[in-house]
Amino acid sequence: MKIDILTLFPEIALQPLSDSIIQRARDAGLVEIRGHNLRDWSEDKHRRVDDTPCGGGPGMVLQPGPLHAAITSLKKENTRVILMTPQGAALKQARVRELSSETHLLIVCGHYEGIDHRIIESLIDEEISIGDYVLTNGAIAAAVLCDAVVRLLPGALGDSQSAIEESFSDPNLLEAPCYTRPVAFMGEKVPEILLSGNHAKIAEWRKEKAVERTRRNRPDLK
Ligand code: ADE
Repeated sequence: MKIDILTLFPEIALQPLSDSIIQRARDAGLVEIRGHNLRDWSEDKHRRVDDTPCGGGPGMVLQPGPLHAAITSLKKENTRVILMTPQGAALKQARVRELSSETHLLIVCGHYEGIDHRIIESLIDEEISIGDYVLTNGAIAAAVLCDAVVRLLPGALGDSQSAIEESFSDPNLLEAPCYTRPVAFMGEKVPEILLSGNHAKIAEWRKEKAVERTRRNRPDLK
């Protein structure tokens, strides 16, 4: 898989993808990730890429010219072009899984008030939000999306099971609590059942606790 990230801040997007599991996936050739500075496509002598919103209002809007030039030069035949924006569809694990089988993602990062809508209509395949809050910078959201996608590439995680049996494998159920040694810690013991060796009972307990946890933390999931 190839991932290109188009942003005003390539370092912000790339830094979280340059260590640990994701860097190992890159080193192993499972994914090639490149950052691109949108200003490189500016024709302005000060490398400007934004202007004030038509119709008034606060903030700045990314101009269509540099975005058009950048996206058309980075986009290939099989590219999925994604815009990170709080106006996008909420990212879910199911969509992450689908995106992990694409061959080329071009992730465009919004900044300030947003990007000129003509670019969204002509060149963006999909708008994605990583949650109902506003970040200063879409590059942070791009790093989140890349991390979630790359860890699902075959071979990225050491134990291939860990990508299957986890929260959101069932999109409506969180994971059960987990424990490790020592068995007693500050007077609190690991639940007896987890030390019993009875796998059927453990699975039953985990299911029950997963349901409890989901009700408490995510009553919106049914
Ligand atoms: N840019 C700013 N906030 C964002 C969000 N919540 N999701 C995606 N991109 C963003």
